[in-house]
Amino acid sequence: MIRRYQAEGYPRAVTVPAAASGAANLTGGEPGTTPGATRTGTAAASRLGTMAVQMAPSILSADFARLADEAAAVAGVADWLHVDVMDYHFVPNLTIGRPVVESLLKHTELPLDCHLMISEPDRWAAGYAEAGARNVTVHAEALQAPVRTLRQIRAAGARAGLAVNPATPVEPYEDLLPEFDMLLLMTIEPGFGGQSFLDVVLPKLRRARALVQRHGASVWLQVDGGVDDETIERCAQAGADVFVAGTAVYGADNPAAAVEALRRHAEHATAGATWPQRS
Ligand code: DX5
Ligand code: ZN
Repeated sequence: MIRRYQAEGYPRAVTVPAAASGAANLTGGEPGTTPGATRTGTAAASRLGTMAVQMAPSILSADFARLADEAAAVAGVADWLHVDVMDYHFVPNLTIGRPVVESLLKHTELPLDCHLMISEPDRWAAGYAEAGARNVTVHAEALQAPVRTLRQIRAAGARAGLAVNPATPVEPYEDLLPEFDMLLLMTIEPGFGGQSFLDVVLPKLRRARALVQRHGASVWLQVDGGVDDETIERCAQAGADVFVAGTAVYGADNPAAAVEALRRHAEHATAGATWPQRS
C-alpha cells in the first residue's frame, strides 16, 4: 500500500513494495570528497569499487505541515534531502523558499539539496548557499549568467548544480564542466511530483556520462522525476549516480524502507560500472 501524492493532471500509478528496513547511518558526502565518503558501516565498504550511489528523497511529496518529521523518517538512510523550490513562474507550481530551508536546517542533520525551479536563479541562488544548503542547483533555461552564478554558489559554501529540462541538451554546457559539481537531468517536465518517467531522456543521460568521463570531470549525474523501483535501474545503467525520488519514497508506507529498496536497485544496476567516482 502507498500514500499517494498526485498532482492534478499528472497521473501516475506507483507501487512501492514493502521492504525490510535496516539502519545504515548514512550522512552523505562532504564538499570536495567522494560521494558517500562519510558513510559508516558495512554497506559503505561493500560499495568500494563501484559507483557511490547517492539517494535524495524529495520532500515535495512529503507532508509540508510536518517537514521535520518527514525529514527524520529518512534521516538514517538518505544521503541528502531534496528540496524543490518553485516560484509559479519558471514552473506552474508554488512551493517553498529560503525561510523554510532555514527552518528545516534547524531540524535535520541531512544535507539539503536545493533544486531551484525559479525564473531568476542568478538573483536568489547564492542566498540558499548562504542559508546553509549543501547543494544548490539552478536551471540552465533560466540562467542569465551561468558562470557567475555557479561561482557565487560555490563561493557561498555550497556545491553548485546545473539542471536541464528534458528538451535541453547537455552538449552546450561541456565547457562549463569545471564550474559545477552536479548535472541534474530532469526526467519529467519540472513542476510536479507524481509524473511518469520520461525514457526519452536516457540517451542524453548516456551522452552526459560519456562527456563527464571523457573530461575526467568530478561531476555527479542526478536524475529527478518518476524515479521508482522500476525506472531507477535504467537510470543507473545509463550513468546516473544521484537519485531523487518523491512519490516513491513519501508515497510509501515506510519511506525509509523505500529509500533502501531504491538504493539496492541502483547499486545492483551499477555494480561493475567502469566510470570513475566523483572525487
Ligand atoms: C519536480 C521535482 C521533483 C519531484 C519528483 O519538478 O523537481 O524533485 O519531487 O517527484 P517524483 O519522484 O514523484 O517524480
Ligand atoms: Zn527536484
